[in-house]
Amino acid sequence: MVSELCLGCMTFGRETDEEGSREIVGRFLEAGGNFIDTADVYSTGVSEEITGRAIREVRDDVVLATKVRFPMGEGPNDVGLSRKHVTRGCEESLRRLGTDYIDLYQVHCWDAAAPLEETLSALTDLVRSGKVRYIGVSNFTAWQIMKSVCVSGANGFERFVCLQPQYSLVERNVEYEILPACEEEGLGVIPWSPLGGGFLSGKYRREGGPPAGTRIAEAVESMEEYWDRRATGRNWAVIDAVGEIAEATGKSYAQISLNWLLRQPAVTAPILGVRTMEQLEDNLGAAGWELDEGQVQRLSEAGAPEDTYPHRFIRNAQRV
Ligand SMILES: NC(=O)c1ccc[n+]([C@@H]2O[C@H](COP(=O)([O-])OP(=O)(O)OC[C@H]3O[C@@H](n4cnc5c(N)ncnc54)[C@H](OP(=O)(O)O)[C@@H]3O)[C@@H](O)[C@H]2O)c1
Repeated sequence: MVSELCLGCMTFGRETDEEGSREIVGRFLEAGGNFIDTADVYSTGVSEEITGRAIREVRDDVVLATKVRFPMGEGPNDVGLSRKHVTRGCEESLRRLGTDYIDLYQVHCWDAAAPLEETLSALTDLVRSGKVRYIGVSNFTAWQIMKSVCVSGANGFERFVCLQPQYSLVERNVEYEILPACEEEGLGVIPWSPLGGGFLSGKYRREGGPPAGTRIAEAVESMEEYWDRRATGRNWAVIDAVGEIAEATGKSYAQISLNWLLRQPAVTAPILGVRTMEQLEDNLGAAGWELDEGQVQRLSEAGAPEDTYPHRFIRNAQRV
């Protein structure tokens, strides 16, 4: 059982120092949150260390999630989803987190170099040895999710219980295939970058570039929140819709955007990313109330993904 908002710890040890991070965790727990997400690669292990110290007193009350896949060293086996790296990655995450179990151990992305059977077998061993409670996946396509679920079923391996995809009002492509696959197979969905890296907070304007010192101003082209990827006509239309509803409801842009995600049927818990306590307070205000149907629809239509084949064909075929 997890709270309807998850706290992401990617800023810890990077934009946010340890003292600030611990205050953020404390406030999140005080507000009723119990779900916390980090990864081995965030600040090369420092995020896990800070997170572990921040929850030490309440460890068993927290559902603690971390990830494995990206490089933690220069060697050929310091990366990926081989049995060797997954097993060692788990041991090292446990040490940095200062705990003897991880509630949700997530594969951070597909690894074409590792056989899926090997990865799932290694993850299953971690669950059976008590080091991990549940396994999850992040950044998989729909066929990768479906193949994983089938390989688990056919071999008696542990099954991925949830997906962590990028999903927000400005990144809707998961709606084509990925969310339906999760709903069909009963995987929970915990969206990352629920504000598109901060774009949906309303602090960006059409005129001029991104304000200096913000995540988006610093993002390079390979990062999802890169300015040119966010500052599109469709995304400004989304911002206009969020702004209209913010004015009508007295809620902030971030609260409107996060509440829309909370209203999506496939979503379990958006993962909040914050740099400051003020941002956390703002984003916590996304829960405990509901946009009305018309407002949800207005937001959904503003950034709706293009209607594509074969989805359109299949939908029409259901009518005959
Ligand atoms: N699985 C993956 O591949 C993956 C990838 C990325 C993230 N994640 C997870 O998802 C979590 C959240 O992702 P994210 O950090 O990209 O989420 P996000 O909410 O889309 O972006 C967070 C950033 O937006 C700005 N912001 C947040 N709330 C704000 C507010 N109320 N007002 C103004 N600005 C605000 C802050 O940046 P500035 O102040 O610098 O503008 C903050 O660092 C991460 O902590 C991590 O746990 C996973």
